[in-house]
Amino acid sequence: MGELVFPEGFLWGSATASYQIEGAAREGGRGESIWDRFSHTPGRTPGGETGDVACDHYHRYRDDVGLMKKLGLAAYRFSVSWPRILPEGRGEVNQEGLDFYRFLIDELLGNGIQPVVTLYHWDLPQRLQDRGGWLNRDTARCFGEYAALLFDTLHDRVNLWITVNEPWVAAFVGHEEGRHAPGLSDRTSALQVGHHLLLAHALAVRTYRERANGDGRIGISLNLTPMHPSGELEEDQLAAIVADGNQNRWFLDPVLTGAYPKDMMELNSEVFDAPSVEEGDLEILGSNRPDFLGINYYTRQIVRRSTTPDRLFQVIDPKEAEKTAMSWEVYPEGLYEVLRRVHREYRDIDLYVTENGAAYPDRQIERGVVQDHERVAYLQSHLQQAHRAIQEGVSLRGYFVWSLLDNFEWAHGYSMRFGLFRVDYETQKRTWKQSGRWYRETIKRNALQVD
Ligand code: FCB
Repeated sequence: MGELVFPEGFLWGSATASYQIEGAAREGGRGESIWDRFSHTPGRTPGGETGDVACDHYHRYRDDVGLMKKLGLAAYRFSVSWPRILPEGRGEVNQEGLDFYRFLIDELLGNGIQPVVTLYHWDLPQRLQDRGGWLNRDTARCFGEYAALLFDTLHDRVNLWITVNEPWVAAFVGHEEGRHAPGLSDRTSALQVGHHLLLAHALAVRTYRERANGDGRIGISLNLTPMHPSGELEEDQLAAIVADGNQNRWFLDPVLTGAYPKDMMELNSEVFDAPSVEEGDLEILGSNRPDFLGINYYTRQIVRRSTTPDRLFQVIDPKEAEKTAMSWEVYPEGLYEVLRRVHREYRDIDLYVTENGAAYPDRQIERGVVQDHERVAYLQSHLQQAHRAIQEGVSLRGYFVWSLLDNFEWAHGYSMRFGLFRVDYETQKRTWKQSGRWYRETIKRNALQVD
């Protein structure tokens, strides 16, 4: 057995998001979010499941921090529920909501765990949706105000901030595919929403730098997916370039270079007449480059040319490949690929893997521990690739397992379990999984055990 040692100070963490774990949807003065509205709409989630109770973390946060302590986490990434702070989306502040996060942060710091705060992980206040949501440019301005409020309240105790989680998913899964809140199916809208999310991100970075005296660091989390052509045909290779442009470069370029990729901008504006970009928007992005980039990595995609005119490319299902319960291919090399790629093409940017993990059925429990050997293998193989990237000079500063707890997996409801701890939703009991044990050992050694 050998060891792959990680750099000193490497930040070992785990991640969650407000709507997926908090519950207490109508408590503590919280306003309605688009995910409350969406999940309560018949047909949107399996069996109509909602985040009303979820992991009841709102009431159990002390115990949950206790679990983090047992894991030995150095950092915990969570998101703030915007409608818990501003029930109307703007204007009047709900002190009880702010207090919840202050108490949580106190509890974390008291246990030696660094809080990493995401400002937006998809639970937009419904009041803002009523005024057009992210399609309305004014929502970006409201986000700037909400961000300023949190910076003013928490910046002395929070050193790592993430503006927006996965703008690609929020824009395209929510507004083109319609599988997420608010459930629209229109690419032109999705492109405009994506632009407003980027603008919101940049406004928050600017606000942070104006207020926080530069003592902390701020970034964004992008879901990056390598796009591989299904074969040698030139048309399939081109399809992969478009797929990459659509999901990866469309966000990487504006965030890190202040410009949209030219090829995709031409295509989108010709075919979809969007996004409309106001003068000055790209300057705001360009002059507010984040301090770090968060990368959420789960899988790759294999694509080929589209056979129907309404699609830019077609995704192929690699039938023989090993897959997780989400039907996502297990492809650890892809993590290495995205880390190297960002390091090479975008230069001088610190990276964190802000999400990586896998859903499995987790049926087997022995001696009180869930025997999730597939998840251990998944995490182990991905960390090995992360280590490989570090060896080659990529400035990867930390890694966050998605997720600390089994939780409400959006359109899949509670059917998908991603946690290092199992949650029994009837009793709210948390149970160790083997992956939790394994992660604890890895963190303790600051190294991966390899054969
Ligand atoms: C990511 C989301 C996260 C979780 C994982 C499985 O896209 O950011 O909330 O749903 O996928």
